[in-house]
Amino acid sequence: MSNVTFLSGERVPLEMHKVRMVQKINLLPVEGRLKAMQEAGFNTFLLKNRDVFLDMLTDSGVNAMSENQYAAMMQADDSYAGSETFYRLEAELQDIFNMKYFLPAHQGRACENIIAKVFVEPGKVALMNYHFTTTKAHITMMGGAVEEIFGDEALKINSDAPFKGDVDINKLNAAIGRLGKEKIAFMRIEAGTNLIGGQPVSMQNVREVSAICRAAGIPLVYDASLLADNLYFIKTHDAHYREAKIVDITREIASLVDIIYFSARKLGAARGGGILVSDEQLFLRMRELVPLFEGFLTYGGMSVREMEAMAVGMRETLDIDVISQTPIFVEALCNELLGKGVPVVTPPGGLGCHVDAMQFCEHVPQSQYRAGALAAALFIAGGVRCMERGTMSEQRGDDGSEHFAEMELARLAIPKRVFTLSQIKYTADRLAWLHKNRSLIGGLEFVEEPKVLRFFFGRLQPVSDWPERLVKQFRKDFGDSL
Ligand SMILES: Cc1ncc(COP(=O)(O)O)c(C=O)c1O
Repeated sequence: MSNVTFLSGERVPLEMHKVRMVQKINLLPVEGRLKAMQEAGFNTFLLKNRDVFLDMLTDSGVNAMSENQYAAMMQADDSYAGSETFYRLEAELQDIFNMKYFLPAHQGRACENIIAKVFVEPGKVALMNYHFTTTKAHITMMGGAVEEIFGDEALKINSDAPFKGDVDINKLNAAIGRLGKEKIAFMRIEAGTNLIGGQPVSMQNVREVSAICRAAGIPLVYDASLLADNLYFIKTHDAHYREAKIVDITREIASLVDIIYFSARKLGAARGGGILVSDEQLFLRMRELVPLFEGFLTYGGMSVREMEAMAVGMRETLDIDVISQTPIFVEALCNELLGKGVPVVTPPGGLGCHVDAMQFCEHVPQSQYRAGALAAALFIAGGVRCMERGTMSEQRGDDGSEHFAEMELARLAIPKRVFTLSQIKYTADRLAWLHKNRSLIGGLEFVEEPKVLRFFFGRLQPVSDWPERLVKQFRKDFGDSL
């Protein structure tokens, strides 16, 4: 984070990098944005990127890479088995995490597949601070169940708690007492808890969970996909770590857990993923599955160029200027929105700014997907693509009943080093306009609904002509502006 004070006292998210490669983006007129949304079945996942102005769907695989990452990609050693690139990556990861074994996989969910296949069987429960969509899907596909043991602050939209992602220690002890060690597949801590607003987990909490799991003989799994943001928050919000080196914070976390896995589409600003363990038996149990689902052990479904970019990106994650960029931009967007009266999750976390659709669209029944409706409306209003993180992202019960999400969020992801401050201000401006006109936003209903991870491919339609009325209001308020 840049230690630069502005004369005005304003907290400006000053970029500690310069842009040396750019991509032209296209802002369609509002009528074109409506047409694109209709063609996408009112699901932002189904938009074509050519129709999107600011792509805040996710940070996954779309973070800006550094010149050193691109340079490294050019010297990759292409080989099915025994590639020099793999050994370079393995050595970097072993050093950064101080863990002995690395299993490559093509992305985060591939790691989850392997972990679920090894640890989960029908009747087993995976405990966690909060689920992630793909994590839960893999566990339930193996016949297991997920039990979330988050703290009281976790689901509060507005809170002062700096580590809302913390596991509730009392609930953990109670779950172990109730279920018994044999029924628990593993305990999982997700860094930078995605679905509750990119909220971090404290070191103290990892330490306490670790002690309990080790005493009970329960494997502790750490999802490090959002570790970069979490490291930033530990360093800046926990006085004990203010002077600590990022690498030492990373190694301390690693020393407390049994398995680390990550999506390198997020961590390391690359593409790919992997699992790290120190225990040989654990390594051997999971190793069998890598060639079956991913590829040979020295590439795991990744191209060698991705692996080179990952090795450099992981090392760069130890630089505070690199890892602070997303959190300070998230904070800037949240503050802009709060200043305009738009409800957002606080404190600002990592990953992105999370708009509270439960409140924003309180007039829309939850059964008509408040957050999904807000995501569609924002695209129409400004060409900004965000992601629904609410009831649409939940799975129906076995009896077909809808499972209402505890939070209805429209997540505006801030990929690392991609957007400028004026783009952030534009996004806040269009959201503020939408908030003023929120009564125009109506609900959505599924017309095509896949059984698994329905939010990816599902197609919806508006319950009325509200999108057309939104366009009319836009023209009235903004004249011929894009
Ligand atoms: C916390 C978390 N875990 C796992 C995953 C899955 O990773 P991937 O998209 O690489 O499969 C993600 C992706 O968004 C994530 O945010």
